[in-house]
Amino acid sequence: MKTVLTGIKPTGDVHLGNLLGAIRPAIEMSHSSQFDRSIYFIADAHALTSVRDPEKFKQHVYEIAATWIALGLDTSKAIFFKQSDIKEVFELTWMLNCMTPKGDMNRAHSYKDKVQKNQEANKDTDFGVNMGLFDYPVLMSADILLYDSNAVPVGKDQIQHVEIARSIAQRCNEYFGEGTLIEPQEVIQKNGSLVPGLDGRKMSKSYDNGIPLWGTEKKLKKTINKITTDSTPEEAPKDSANCTIMELYKLFGTPEQILGLEKRYAEGIGWGYAKLELFEVINAYLSGPREVYNDLMNNRDEIDKVLLNGKERAHAIAMDTMNRVRSRITGF
Ligand code: TRP
Repeated sequence: MKTVLTGIKPTGDVHLGNLLGAIRPAIEMSHSSQFDRSIYFIADAHALTSVRDPEKFKQHVYEIAATWIALGLDTSKAIFFKQSDIKEVFELTWMLNCMTPKGDMNRAHSYKDKVQKNQEANKDTDFGVNMGLFDYPVLMSADILLYDSNAVPVGKDQIQHVEIARSIAQRCNEYFGEGTLIEPQEVIQKNGSLVPGLDGRKMSKSYDNGIPLWGTEKKLKKTINKITTDSTPEEAPKDSANCTIMELYKLFGTPEQILGLEKRYAEGIGWGYAKLELFEVINAYLSGPREVYNDLMNNRDEIDKVLLNGKERAHAIAMDTMNRVRSRITGF
């Protein structure tokens, strides 16, 4: 049995970078014959390290769920659920906490970065660090190990977390016997870093240069019009090799469409027209999903139903794993 698993943090304003770097590849993997089982969940418990507004939080959970369903995740096949619906993950987190040297957590990148920033600002080392943030990698390890995951698609920033999960699994297997936990492998998703944002830098929430997936057509058009271009005159030939518009176009256009636009670049095309072409291909891609997304957001019961079905299937797996792990670790 081969399992692919990943967790998705419920943040607001999902953008094209998330679509191309994480969502689209994960949906493709869920159809791949390489895996018998795909498990995707909304990492709501992880979000609690920073969330302080319950209304917004709930909204973001629904938005993320609706996003994945609207973009074509087949939830009759993939197991799609909310992390915190499976209480076993918290039991496993505690057990793994007890098997994890604190020093390993001191060396985890995200915590270390925070400490370094505090030191640079002459603040207490642990200023603004809650225990959830410190323990983030162990909860993530529990996510991965609870479902006997083999492959974990993640962005570069999450590689260390999967390595931590693997080393915890190895340690438990040494203490409690082979097969106590399955050792997972990260699958690096490179695409995300290839998606340029409005200003040409990598599309990222932290640069505020994203093209949001949802919203009206009009808004999409307006956002695309904000892509930074140079002041080459309208009729002058344009270089299609180093152009944000073209790079984005390539991610959505058919090979013929791409060739066609490259030709028009060489002949000279006004940036406004190039942006319009880009809008057309992105909008064609998104208009179907947009309808589904809006319908779901207006019928949250539908989302609840999908997540409940995922919860039941995930729970069955989690119980099996916990029975095995609990008995290996505690004898009960
Ligand atoms: N930490 C991941 C992120 O920030 C989300 C996540 C939580 C996750 N649990 C996971 C990813 C388990 C893969 C596997 O993107």
